[in-house]
Parts: sequence; C-alpha cells; structure tokens
Amino acid sequence: MQPVLARTKEDVQTAVREWRAAGASIGFVPTMGALHEGHVALVRAARAGNDRVVVSIFVNPTQFNSASDLAAYPRSEAGDVDLLVAAGVDLVYLPAADEMYPTGFATAVEVAGISDGLCGAFRPGHFRGVATVVTKLLLQVAPDRAYFGEKDFQQLRVIQTLVQDLDIPVEVKGVATVRESDGLALSSRNLRLSPEERQVAAGLPRALFHAADRIGAGAAVPEALEEARHAILDAGFREVEYLELRSARTLAPLAGLTEPARLLAAAWVGEVRLIDNVPLAPQER
Ligand code: PAF
Repeated sequence: MQPVLARTKEDVQTAVREWRAAGASIGFVPTMGALHEGHVALVRAARAGNDRVVVSIFVNPTQFNSASDLAAYPRSEAGDVDLLVAAGVDLVYLPAADEMYPTGFATAVEVAGISDGLCGAFRPGHFRGVATVVTKLLLQVAPDRAYFGEKDFQQLRVIQTLVQDLDIPVEVKGVATVRESDGLALSSRNLRLSPEERQVAAGLPRALFHAADRIGAGAAVPEALEEARHAILDAGFREVEYLELRSARTLAPLAGLTEPARLLAAAWVGEVRLIDNVPLAPQER
C-alpha cells in the first residue's frame, strides 16, 4: 500500500489522530533523506514495535554550521519515497522549510553539557539545531516511540536528555549502527566519497574496533588512542578532529574503562567529515 504523503503538520496530525482513535500505536523515524540501509534498520525497528510508522524527511538548515555543507547535503526525495514504500511505511512527512520555521520563529532548544565537546566543539550550534527540530517533530507527530541511530551517539544522548527534561511523552529508542562488509558505518555522507576515499574510509572503524579491543584487554587508554589516531592518518585521512573514550551515559571523558563507554571519533577524508563510535563494556574480572 502507498504511504500517505503529508506536507503540513495538520495533515500529519489528522492521520495520527485517526490511527490513535482506532487504538494503533505510532512509531516515528525522523530523517534528513538520502536514505540508506541504516535508515531501513530504523524503519524495521519502528515496524516491529508499533502498529503504524511515520517517517519525516526534512533537511534541517539550522543544524548545518556552514552554507556549503548544507548545499552539498545529498537530496533524493523521489528515491527516498520509493524506498519507504518498499519498507512498508504508513506516512511520509515532507515539510517545507517555512512549515518548520515560519516567519517570526524565535525559539531554540539548547541541551547544555551533553551537547558540548565532541561534535559540539567542532560544529557550533549544531546540536541546538538538532534539538530544536527534533522537539518540534516530536510534538507535531506525537508518536509513542521515536528511533535514532547509534552512529550519531552524541545526538542520541542529546535527544534522550531533552525528552526527559521537557517531559515529552515518547520513548526514545537507539538502534545499532549498520556497517558495510569492511566495517564502514552507513552514512548519507558516504555518497560524497570518491572511490579512493571510500577505500580510505574503512580505516576509521578498523582503528576504532582495534583500539576498543586493546582497551578491553587492559591497554592504557592514552596509548591505545594515540595508536588509533596514527592508524587513521596512516590509512589516508587528512585530519582527526577528535578521538575520545567517553562514558556511554554522561559522555564525560574517561581515563579508563570503569563503566560502559563509547570510543568516538570524527575525521576528515578529503572534503568529507565522517563520524563513528563503538561500544566498550568493563570486563567482569
Ligand atoms: O540524524 C539526522 O538525520 C538528523 O540529525 C535528525 C535527527 C533527523 C534531525 O534533523
């Protein structure tokens, strides 16, 4: 069955209200389009846990901190809708920029602390843009559950925090990162890699998994991180923005594996910035 296409919040709300009146639960997957198997995994999780699934496609201008990055972001609305039809989505919400940010729009959602550092340090204003648009989308769609990829782990923690702080009645679900066979995390940005850069890109997860194994086996964190930084640069990346071990709960820096953690990195290959992270858990000894 073809999904309903909605371009206004009123159309989304009418559909969701009808489904709710019939006793259906609603799962929601917010996206910026350029959909890939990672998004399909989010849709699958939403399908499995809910009666109806809504997906939004909105390239949110306020979360880009450079006009060139926004302009270069891949857009493929027709292909995206075909993929969502095949994935069995019930409603695709495609708001225009002035539906989300009408003239006079003046409010921002800022999640202090957890938005600082990591990507927040290198992309000023990025998480304010994400938090603001996700708050609006959650209030517009009013789902029971909303699904986000763990590849954007800091984003996931920012969204979990704002939902808790603002008492938004939705359950936020993190979904494991989907990877290519060589380990590269699926990302819309991968479309911008040349064939040579695509080869180089696999060096990022390789270095992260290796460092995570070393730290898990008891290696000192600074040495393991330094080795991983060199491995990423040796693979052909031109810059490592950050490479850090952080608490999976608070995202505070960790000097050792004393609690469930994430090893997170951002690095540039050519003109493309890639991020990735892997989980680590302290071993029972
Ligand atoms: O992860 C994304 O695609 C975006 O940051 C999101 C959550 C859809 C908000 O624009």
